[in-house]
Amino acid sequence: MPTNIVLIGFMGSGKSSIGRRVATHLGFQFVDTDAMLVEREGREIAEIFAREGEARFRDFETSVLKSLGVREHCVISTGGGVILREENRALLRDLGLVVWLTASEDVIFNRVSRNTKRPLLHTANPRETVTQLLAARRPLYEAAAQFTVDTTALTHAAAADAVIAEARRAFSWDTAR
Ligand code: S3P
Repeated sequence: MPTNIVLIGFMGSGKSSIGRRVATHLGFQFVDTDAMLVEREGREIAEIFAREGEARFRDFETSVLKSLGVREHCVISTGGGVILREENRALLRDLGLVVWLTASEDVIFNRVSRNTKRPLLHTANPRETVTQLLAARRPLYEAAAQFTVDTTALTHAAAADAVIAEARRAFSWDTAR
């Protein structure tokens, strides 16, 4: 398995904040697939969704994942819907240790409510949308992940520690890391 840590999880599960901490601690590069996608396309995610639709966004997402195949020593933070395609779930596994960051529905809703950039939550009832998306996606995160960290009651630092501890086991590192 390549020496990368891949973070998956619903919007608001802390992938970027926790991922940055893990990367800093390990001296790994932090990679955010949404940010790569935006840079490549030269447009914001909301604009891609609005102009070309979700399916096209998913195509871009898969293509970004494929482009990461040569990387090592990265912490890769992914978009919340990356697990929707079976092809992506296989690509994630091939990239490295896949860690699912979970949180309770209340915590997720509170976190995503602070930010209006996510097109999937631009609905009449975002709370209900979160409930439905979470229910549909939970089994897919579970299928894709090798390890789970529930961040509900954890600080970012504590969640990062849990990810690092698992990486240490998975990659058989000594404790100096
Ligand atoms: C999405 C999550 C977003 C982004 C896009 C779609 C999703 O990423 O990829 O808005 O389908 O859950 P974050 O999980 O980083 O918010």
